[in-house]
Amino acid sequence: MERRIIITDDGSPTFFVPELNECYHSTRGAVSESLHVFIDAGLREVSSRRSAVGSSGVRILEVGFGTGLNALLAMLYAEEHKMTIYYESLEKYPLSEEEAAILNYSNKDKLAVLHACAWEEPVQLTTGFTLCKRRIDVLAYKLDKAFDLIYFDAFAPAVQPDLWSKELFAKLCAAMSPDGVLVTYSAKGTVKSALRAAGFEVQRLPGAAGKRHMIRAIKN
Ligand SMILES: C[S@@+](CC[C@H](N)C(=O)[O-])C[C@H]1O[C@@H](n2cnc3c(N)ncnc32)[C@H](O)[C@@H]1O
Repeated sequence: MERRIIITDDGSPTFFVPELNECYHSTRGAVSESLHVFIDAGLREVSSRRSAVGSSGVRILEVGFGTGLNALLAMLYAEEHKMTIYYESLEKYPLSEEEAAILNYSNKDKLAVLHACAWEEPVQLTTGFTLCKRRIDVLAYKLDKAFDLIYFDAFAPAVQPDLWSKELFAKLCAAMSPDGVLVTYSAKGTVKSALRAAGFEVQRLPGAAGKRHMIRAIKN
């Protein structure tokens, strides 16, 4: 898959995939979108709920490791909030070493550690952050853990309709803890319908810059 680096409006880089006419993040801001959708609407919400019941641990599943930006922000969040995160991330088309090396996010050294981390096994990278990267198609993966939070970050529904399906959402729902949360940047009507049909209550939240809405879905 050919990928070209571009700089988004907040100054952070992302990749553009010409054959899909798709970017890895919003061109209005890669870091600002990840913070808005995955950290603020997802991790902050779930970790506050978990701490309310006396637990400081969150298990996250990500669909699409990609640049590693969401994992990096989660690792920084775990350090800042002195919490424990198990972060499993699935990726069908991993970046090459050269591609990962040109991603000039702040905390570039920490991102390099995430990319250098072994695949297919959990690796404890800091006191509170364990990463398990899996080189696999999410459609083929047998999920065997109860995740508290799912980062659904595939390419857009128009490009990958088979991933934004009731069937896949039902499989993910079955692998979530009670009241588990799924967050995603898309708020398309077909995505909301598929999530509801798969057993989620769907909340429409304000979107990141340039997008009116995003979705937070709670397991019923
Ligand atoms: C929109 S990008 C986001 C990636 C990443 N979360 C990030 O912040 O850079 C979508 C990612 O999903 C991956 N992907 C696409 N189809 C997939 C599949 N069937 N299974 C697992 N990953 C997939 C792509 O290779 C890409 O890395």
